[in-house]
Amino acid sequence: MQETRRNFLKAGCTVVAGATVASGINLLNVKSAKATSAEHPYGWPVEGLDVEETKELGYLGYKGDSRFSIDAGKDCASGTFGAIVGQLQEAVADDLEHPYHGIPLAMMQWASGGVAGFATLCGAINGACAAIGLVCSNSEAKAYIADLLTWCSETALPIYPSPNYEEPHAQSVAGSNLCHVSVTNWCLASGYASGSSERSDRCACLTADVASKVVEMLNDGVGGVLGNPRDNSTVCGACHYKGPDYDAGQFTRGKMNCHSCHVTISKASENGHHLGIINK
Ligand code: HEC
Ligand code: HEC
Repeated sequence: MQETRRNFLKAGCTVVAGATVASGINLLNVKSAKATSAEHPYGWPVEGLDVEETKELGYLGYKGDSRFSIDAGKDCASGTFGAIVGQLQEAVADDLEHPYHGIPLAMMQWASGGVAGFATLCGAINGACAAIGLVCSNSEAKAYIADLLTWCSETALPIYPSPNYEEPHAQSVAGSNLCHVSVTNWCLASGYASGSSERSDRCACLTADVASKVVEMLNDGVGGVLGNPRDNSTVCGACHYKGPDYDAGQFTRGKMNCHSCHVTISKASENGHHLGIINK
């Protein structure tokens, strides 16, 4: 049994955590796995999952209409989680004792609408992160998730063409991983209300995009390479990081784009603003 499983599932994910393009290495070609089976108890199919099919399953999953939906429920978080984990369950269909079969696909449905409708973390991302955490060790999961969060925040979405609309949906860059910011930026870009069927379909397309992005990354076995192009670490994070010195500004933490909320400080210089240099 154990052998069959190993033959079928490669030992999880490979990531090049913390590596940067600046090092001059073409990281996209790095694929070698050093993962141990202890770190990756469940695994990822050797041949990978199909990216195009994942898109479709993500879109239909959002609508509660994919072949997994009877178990997975519907909406954004179930859409990404169900598309990925449902396929993983199919991949181990021959091994009914495989732990993937014990995962209830509907377990992420609460995350829709940015966690129970609070519009905090985007549900498509939340469900996708849970799927990554199921497959990868903690450190590898974080490397993939960092890339996913950066990609979701910085990419014009949705990309997946809706099968239900003739015209492609308007695209917008969220600049954030919050459901609220993502939805509102899209509403402003498209002119559609948050309660419109267009907005809902846009989120279904985005669910397809996010689910397939995860499959792409795990198929490639490379994570932790994108960094955060809008990382403010050289400016805001120089002082405001998770550190021990309260007076120096270390009463905050995080890797979000500071300027998406602290708009009035957008002109802070490298010297900061607390010295009264720039605080307009
Ligand atoms: C040189 C260090 C330094 C840098 C760089 C810096 N800060 Fe600060 N910041 C501080 C310190 C120290 C305080 C608290 C004491 C004070 O306000 O003078 C502070 C206070 C703040 C406050 C609360 C007070 C206020 O001015 O509204 C906000 C918000 C803030 N920083 C955001 C930012 C953002 C956003 C950036 C990047 C654009 C940034 N800071 C860059 C050191 C820094
Ligand atoms: C999603 C919105 C959001 C983002 C993104 C964000 N902040 Fe904040 N931040 C807040 C809120 C809300 C507070 C609470 C205090 C307030 O209302 O000013 C706060 C408080 C702070 C304070 C203390 C303010 C004070 O009055 O002393 C600092 C400093 C700060 N943030 C820095 C940052 C930095 C640096 C980043 C980027 C790494 C960042 N923030 C990203 C919303 C945000």
